[in-house]
Amino acid sequence: MKHGTIASIRPCSYCFALITSLLLSGTGQAGGLVNGAPWFDTDGHLIQAHGGSMLRVGEYTYWFGEDKSQGAPTQAISCYRSRDHEHWEFRGHALDASAATIIQESNLERPKVLFNKKTQLFVMWLHREAKDNYAPAEAAVAVAEQPEGPYRWLRSFRPLQQMSRDVTLFLEEDGRAYLLSAARDNNDLNVYRLTADFQDIEAQVNTLFAGKSREAPAVFRSHDRVYLVTSGCTGWTPNQAMVASGPSLEAPNQSWSPLTPLGSPSTFNAQSAFVMPSSNDPNPEYVLFLDRWIAQDLSSSRYLALPLRFKDSALTLEFQDFVYGQSAAPYWNFSKTPSWEGKRIRLHSVQSNLQLSVQDSGELLQNSGTDDPSAIWTLIRTDSGDWQIQNNKNQGFLGLRTGDGKLTLLDSPSQGSSAWTLQAADQHGFAFHLIHKQSGLALDVLEGSTRLGAKVDLYRPHDTWNQKWYPLPAF
Ligand code: DGJ
Repeated sequence: MKHGTIASIRPCSYCFALITSLLLSGTGQAGGLVNGAPWFDTDGHLIQAHGGSMLRVGEYTYWFGEDKSQGAPTQAISCYRSRDHEHWEFRGHALDASAATIIQESNLERPKVLFNKKTQLFVMWLHREAKDNYAPAEAAVAVAEQPEGPYRWLRSFRPLQQMSRDVTLFLEEDGRAYLLSAARDNNDLNVYRLTADFQDIEAQVNTLFAGKSREAPAVFRSHDRVYLVTSGCTGWTPNQAMVASGPSLEAPNQSWSPLTPLGSPSTFNAQSAFVMPSSNDPNPEYVLFLDRWIAQDLSSSRYLALPLRFKDSALTLEFQDFVYGQSAAPYWNFSKTPSWEGKRIRLHSVQSNLQLSVQDSGELLQNSGTDDPSAIWTLIRTDSGDWQIQNNKNQGFLGLRTGDGKLTLLDSPSQGSSAWTLQAADQHGFAFHLIHKQSGLALDVLEGSTRLGAKVDLYRPHDTWNQKWYPLPAF
C-alpha cells in the first residue's frame, strides 16, 4: 500500500485560540463546530442532513441528508451548501413528497448524489422503505439539473430483484459509478456498476462481506486501494465500525483485506454516513462524517466529523472534539479539547445520548434539550485528585446523602460523600465511567434505558454503555 504524508493540522496555538473563542462565544458557530453538539444552519435551525452525503460543485460543497425534523418516516431530503465547510446555508428540500405520490407512503434514507458529466445531471440514489415498515427494501433514483434540485423521481425498485437497504455511491477514477447496497436482509453488501448515465443498474459486480451483516457503507479511494467503512446492523444503537480495503469494488473477495475494527467499540457512539477528502491533493486527509442517532428523538440526532488517518499503513479513526471548516484546503481541521475541568458541560449517556439532569425533587434522570439548566454541570478537580460534580442550576454537588444514602444533590460536600473518580472507558478519551469513590458504584442509567426521563442511580460497575458518559460543552 502506498500512502503519502498526512495533511498537517493547524498549529496548536491557533487551535487553542479558536477553542477559547468558541467556549466564550456561547455558540458553536463562532470558529469551530463541536463534534456531537447541535450543529445549526445559517438561519439558526438544527441541521437536518442525517444519513447524508456531500458533493463539491464549483466553490460550494453541498450537503444532502434526511430531514428528520418531523422524526421518522423521512419524506424530504435537505440540501445545504457552504463555501467554508462550517457555515451551512439551507437551500431547501432537494426532494420531497411533491416529487411523487409514492413518497407520501415512503421513508427515505441515506441520499447520495453524483454529477454525471455526459448528461450534465445530478443523480441521487436513496434507500426507500414504507412509511411504517422496512419491508419494501428498495433503492430509489432521482435526477436534477441543479445540485440543490428539485430532483425528479425516476423510480424505486429492487436492483436485479434483490433486497436493497442502506446504500452509498462511489465514483471511480475511470468514471465508472457504483451503488453499494445492503442486500439479502442486510446479510451481504452488494456492489452494482451503474449505467453510463448513473440512472440504472448495469450489472452486479461483487458481493462483499457475505453473511457478515454490514450496513451504513462509506467509501473512498486512496492510491491503489478502495477503503470501505461499514457498521454492524443494530438499528439506531451504535456498534463497532469496521474497515476493509481492496484494489477496486469489482475485485474478488480474496483480494480484499479482512474487516478490521475502526475507532472505538461504539464508533464514538455513532454510525458512518460518508467520507470526504479534506483537499484535492493526491494525499488528502479523509474525513468520515457520522450520525450520532438519538433514537427517542431522531430530529435531534447529531453529527461527527472525524479524520481518517493512515498510521503505519493502517487506517485509524480518532476522536476529536472540535472541527474547523475553511474555504481553502484542507477544508477541515480538528483539535482535541485541552481539558473539560472547570468548564460548563453536559454529561451524556453513551447508551441513549441523553443528558444527566436533576429534578427539583433531587431525583437524577436522563433528559434531552438544550434549555434545561439542571443538565449543566462543572467537573471540579480536588486536591486529592478526585472530582466533584457540581450542578449549575443550584450549585449542589452530586453525591450520596448521609442518612438516607440517596443519590442526589448535596448543598456541600460535607453533607455526604461527593467524591468521584473518572475512569477512561475508551482508549480515545471519548467516554468515561463515573465511579462514586466511597461506594465504588458507577453512575448508571437504570436498565440500560434509552427512554426520556429514565432514572439514573448508582449501580455495580459493568462495562456497559449505560455506565459510560461523555461530556459536551454547554452553551
Ligand atoms: C440503521 C441504518 O443504517 C439507518 O439508516 C436506519 O435504517 C436505521 N438502521 C433504522 O433502524
